Amino acid sequence: MPDIESLLKEKRVFKPDPEFKRQANWNKKTVDEYRKLGARSPERFWAKMAKKNLSWFTPWKKVLDWKPPFAKWFVGGKLNVSYNCVDRHLEGKNAWRRNKAAIVWEGEPGDSRVITYAELHREVCKFANVLKELGVKKGDRVCLYMPMVPELAIAMLACTRIGAAHSIVFGGFSSDALRDRINDAEAKLVVTADGGYRKGAGFPLKPAVDEALAGCPGVEKVVVVERIRDGASMVEGRDHYWHELMADASPKCKPAKLDSEHPLFILYTSGTTGKPKGILHTTGGYLTHVTTTFKAIFDIKDEDVYWCTADIGWITGHSYVIYGPLANGATTVMYEGVPTHPGPDRWWALIEKWGVNIFYTAPTAIRTFIRLGDEHPKSHDLSSLRLLGTVGEPINPEAWMWYHRVIGKKKCPIVDTWWQTETGGIMITPIPAGVPTTPGSATLPFPGIDAAIYDDDGNEVRHGDGGLLVVRKPWPGMLRGIWGDPQRYKETYWGSYDETYLAGDGAHRDKKGYFWIMGRVDDVMNISGHRIGTMEVESALVSHGDVAEAAVVGRPDEITGTAIVAFVTPTGTAEAGEELDKTLKAHVAKQIGAIARPAEIRFTDALPKTRSGKIMRRLLRDIASGKESTGDTTTLEDLSVLAKLRESEED
Ligand code: WT7
Repeated sequence: MPDIESLLKEKRVFKPDPEFKRQANWNKKTVDEYRKLGARSPERFWAKMAKKNLSWFTPWKKVLDWKPPFAKWFVGGKLNVSYNCVDRHLEGKNAWRRNKAAIVWEGEPGDSRVITYAELHREVCKFANVLKELGVKKGDRVCLYMPMVPELAIAMLACTRIGAAHSIVFGGFSSDALRDRINDAEAKLVVTADGGYRKGAGFPLKPAVDEALAGCPGVEKVVVVERIRDGASMVEGRDHYWHELMADASPKCKPAKLDSEHPLFILYTSGTTGKPKGILHTTGGYLTHVTTTFKAIFDIKDEDVYWCTADIGWITGHSYVIYGPLANGATTVMYEGVPTHPGPDRWWALIEKWGVNIFYTAPTAIRTFIRLGDEHPKSHDLSSLRLLGTVGEPINPEAWMWYHRVIGKKKCPIVDTWWQTETGGIMITPIPAGVPTTPGSATLPFPGIDAAIYDDDGNEVRHGDGGLLVVRKPWPGMLRGIWGDPQRYKETYWGSYDETYLAGDGAHRDKKGYFWIMGRVDDVMNISGHRIGTMEVESALVSHGDVAEAAVVGRPDEITGTAIVAFVTPTGTAEAGEELDKTLKAHVAKQIGAIARPAEIRFTDALPKTRSGKIMRRLLRDIASGKESTGDTTTLEDLSVLAKLRESEED
């Protein structure tokens, strides 16, 4: 990631193409008009969108009830998410969508399934009945721990149909991480699969569930999708196969009329402490936000095939693989496996095969493909593409230009979208037909979003200066809290400035007022577009008997954005060395998941600390990235520690 000075020198501007503009969903306004849209009354703007883009059983009485930091949107309104994502595409003037593809799914081995809206409706109703049969009630939590298979989408929608909140745990997380999340959410049912395909082989999931459930007394039932058919062991009375339950289920199930603020899902994300936060999203506001942004930013048309490469286990998958696309009646592609199997051109082959028109991915993937070589995308017909998007971390201008040139053939607008698990939907982004883009900048807040940059005292900085990214007014997709921990919610997001949401990212605005997101300012690392708390990895490390103390920092990495470096002080009896290095890396993967495995472990007798005992991460970051420390070391307790840490680099 180049520093802000060089970034702000980026002068290339790409104006919306007139031809694109002519056909765009949102094309009536100039960039200056978009700056003003929704600014005077975000409530009025969002109410208009909620009415236009969603179907409500009962209209709301009040658009917003704001008792900082607790917001209620569309108070008194009743709706159902599965109705909005499925049923309404089968009725009235939309009835022609019955046989339109809702989900185009491709498995890693090359098998595929196309699920129409009518079929999706049957499957969702059936699984909703299965859930009821297994004792799931409105207000309960259901944990989904699954690979990228269509059953995951069906299970999500089935939960929303009966008013159970889902808590999806990414399939790459370990059994320990799964156990903690199940218990925190008090889920009573788990939906999983025997496994999924990755890198050309089946990987089992069910054993991790069995391990986790040994520590989850609240779970009564488990539903298992058969995917890799490895003969997973089934616990009598507790575990049931998906296909067996579905065989007898009725395809009729009325959608529950749910309150706009009814819990829709919990999704865990990393924070600065060891304990992940269960981010809570609710029904009406969230769906308004994702449906509206999806239509405006991705310019979706009924003819389009849309593909977002994110795993559904992350927020991007929730909002822009499932809810946003399906609420718009779109065709959404789901791919099960890794981007490079069986060859480095798999994604480009998929785009060609399914005729993908709109493609949304992460900078880390783009950088991987740059390194793999242009011949792979060039060996496929990518001419169906008409719009590209990125999300997850800052995109360096070189990667942006490659995406523009090699994938978009210089004719596709690129939307660089900034948002978070907590924001529910996209917050800062170009409107493709209205806002000129510049590589590396997410440009301007979406209408109805009041983003700004503050200095430490809570004053807005002048254009050209940097500070902390904040949102000053509530928005419909905003998190409603941290599950079971209102105090942490207040402190983490609302504790710094009065009635203002603190995102935890540093940012600059340029002279035009465009936003340049610089990344996290707290102790949270962004690894391949996913947040991992330094504390989380440290807790995992010190939970190992051979570790006395650990400090974790991120160092810049060309592909993943950030790589994890751990400084570890072994206990007196343990021996630092290759053996322990391997053991500890595996231990972290086991505790959290492979995504948190340190790239490097450095053993040290002592960690640099201030006189008050705080670890000086700034110094460790410099050491980890091989930089000379220029920072102030006057508060360092024991200066020789630094010299020793440097020495440890040499060998
Ligand atoms: C963090 C949120 C919601 C997307 C998936 C990640 C970083 C996200 C951008 C972008 C620069 C970005 C921020 C943010 N981020 N999008 N377009 N440009 N940075 O969700 O795990 O909740 O992480 O991702 O640092 O705070 P997440």
